[in-house]
Amino acid sequence: MTFPYRHVWIIGASTGLGAALTGLLADAGCLVSISARSREKLDTLADTSANTAAYPLDVTSAEDVASAHTRIAQDRGPVDLVVFSAGIYRPMSAESFDLESFTAQVKTNLLGAANLLNAILPPILERGAGKIAIVASVAAYRGLPLAVAYGPTKAALNNLCEALRFDLEPRGIDIQVINPGFVETPLTAQNEFRMPHLMPVDKAARKLMRGLASKRFEVTFPWQFTLQLKLLRVLPRPLYYWLVKRSTKR
Ligand SMILES: NC(=O)c1ccc[n+]([C@@H]2O[C@H](COP(=O)([O-])OP(=O)(O)OC[C@H]3O[C@@H](n4cnc5c(N)ncnc54)[C@H](OP(=O)(O)O)[C@@H]3O)[C@@H](O)[C@H]2O)c1
Repeated sequence: MTFPYRHVWIIGASTGLGAALTGLLADAGCLVSISARSREKLDTLADTSANTAAYPLDVTSAEDVASAHTRIAQDRGPVDLVVFSAGIYRPMSAESFDLESFTAQVKTNLLGAANLLNAILPPILERGAGKIAIVASVAAYRGLPLAVAYGPTKAALNNLCEALRFDLEPRGIDIQVINPGFVETPLTAQNEFRMPHLMPVDKAARKLMRGLASKRFEVTFPWQFTLQLKLLRVLPRPLYYWLVKRSTKR
């Protein structure tokens, strides 16, 4: 497929969805700048394509993100599309509540995105062109078991993108939220429960790439699962609790 963006910056590209997307975009001829903490993994990925270059960073550091963005712009020109796919997930319930883990998930998933916005918004507003895509999750739609920390970070990202759209759309800048269901990556490898409609990462990355090329505000996959979760949003609370308890055997 012809991809409408020339220079793409993927944050969270060392493994999983971000790494698979990197390969697809490099094959499609995009200039791909990739970031995450694992320098070695990024370098290995960058070695597979002349179009791809690594810019390691930790999203929890505003300084790291801003300086990586400056280097990318100096080396390779302005970014046309930035994909924020960095994220951590630690299953958490009331019994296993852990403040350190809760804080780490907020710092990476939510404040990491804020650190990106801090770096990218001024130049993108000045250019009046480009796209910001934030990977959240279907766990954003309603409270789910074991997502006591992860769920709120992803719900906040959905709200953040909705709010930003009021300001960005009239300025010619696209903002997109990506809400995947279960995808086979290191992040979900820790789940001990059966994951409905678990999707292989290469297939998910192809769906993500198609979604990024579109003008849709929200991109979700696989639709069979995400539709069910979307329906949960409109159910009255007693019915929603009954259904989730039944399907998760809690
Ligand atoms: N897999 C799923 O079923 C699923 C479903 C819904 C949403 N998602 C979301 O999709 C995104 C990608 O997840 P994935 O499934 O591909 O998992 P993954 O393979 O664990 O990828 C997560 C990426 O985030 C990076 N990362 C984590 N902490 C970081 C930090 N502090 N600074 C910079 N990079 C950091 C990781 O690289 P380093 O460790 O090298 O830093 C890695 O590249 C996440 O936002 C996740 O919440 C996943």
